[in-house]
Amino acid sequence: MGDAVGLVTSPDPLSVVGDAPPEPAAAENWLQIALAHRGISRRRFLGFASAMTALLALPATMTPQIVKALETAKKPTVVWLEFQDCAGNTESMLRSADPTIADIVLDAISLEYHETIMAGAGAAAEAVLQKHIAAGDIDILIVEGSIPTNDGGVYCTIAGKTALQHLQEAAAASKLVIAVGACAWDGGFPRLGPTGAVGVQDVIGNKPLVNLGGCPHNVANTTATIVHYLTFGKAPELDQYNRPMFAYGHLIHDQCERRANFDAGRFVEAWGDEGHRNGWCLYKMGCKGPQATYNCPIVRWNSGTSWPIGAGHGCIACASPQFWSRMSPFYDRLPDVKMFGVDATAQDIGLGAIGVVTVATAIHAGTVIARRSRDRRKAAVGPDGIVIPEPPSTPAAPSDGSGTSA
Ligand code: SF4
Ligand code: F3S
Repeated sequence: MGDAVGLVTSPDPLSVVGDAPPEPAAAENWLQIALAHRGISRRRFLGFASAMTALLALPATMTPQIVKALETAKKPTVVWLEFQDCAGNTESMLRSADPTIADIVLDAISLEYHETIMAGAGAAAEAVLQKHIAAGDIDILIVEGSIPTNDGGVYCTIAGKTALQHLQEAAAASKLVIAVGACAWDGGFPRLGPTGAVGVQDVIGNKPLVNLGGCPHNVANTTATIVHYLTFGKAPELDQYNRPMFAYGHLIHDQCERRANFDAGRFVEAWGDEGHRNGWCLYKMGCKGPQATYNCPIVRWNSGTSWPIGAGHGCIACASPQFWSRMSPFYDRLPDVKMFGVDATAQDIGLGAIGVVTVATAIHAGTVIARRSRDRRKAAVGPDGIVIPEPPSTPAAPSDGSGTSA
């Protein structure tokens, strides 16, 4: 990793806190070296490229192009800046006890500066960052955390400079900026406090920007965004919030494994009740899935094992704009969510009041169950536990032109 201060470098691309002086990584074949070192076969690598193709909602015929790009692309120089936040997005990146190929791709890139995980500190670490800013050679700038703007930005300073100064300098030296997590996207939770916290999009202009919302973001989407950039030289298709369509283009409600229960009027009424134990719909417990978009039901967490609704908790719309204020209280029901084909709202319907809507609901539920079962048949578990579905044919438009939901 070049002269990064104790950062990721061959021979072990995952040794982010290495002790021994590292060997310089080759500029070419950097990924093959990293994969070979971790004992990853070419077959698994090809499977990873295929999974990335599907995750990016690209046709399968694009897989060879992605393989070629990953095998031949110059090792990108990446800087990760962290400002006012909880470090949850860094934790999300480092989460895996059994690193996947996605982890290795992310870790094997030339991560020249990441103050949370780099071994170096102080003036030497800052010198590395300043060298890249002066050279203007940062390929991808990843930003985590919000940027305080009140009182001259004094609420977050590093090496004598405010977060705002650091961000503006680094963004000017970068080709692509990726804001990871809710705080870097739109100020997140700190936006509600006294520091005047805002997101990256509020303080930089004229720079290609990708917002990867989520609290925290899902690292599979970061990896896919970088893979897309390495393959095509640009960000993937974005929505009106600069979020990739492949990750934020579909309602959680439409991808949810509990959807058949919603359609059938089977709702959890209290934590731990029979419905909760049976995996029924969490709408009445405050689930915001009908107004939120994200691919967490597909990509999931913890190496693809689960996600919030799968674990029995309603969605709090963590990947929606300003969700801390616009989607809370988190346990209040969304108003006026309609059952399909009927005028009754989901709130009206329960086991005891299902009566007149039973037939209409059952008809629709049958359709939905058939569709979901078809989609499940299409889905496949990709390498590293990433569940990869066939991309739905028509992306759902974000449900709120007013910005009240994603
Ligand atoms: Fe799933 Fe929530 Fe929709 Fe129920 S309301 S089907 S739990 S997303
Ligand atoms: Fe976040 Fe809701 Fe998914 S809380 S991780 S968008 S289920």
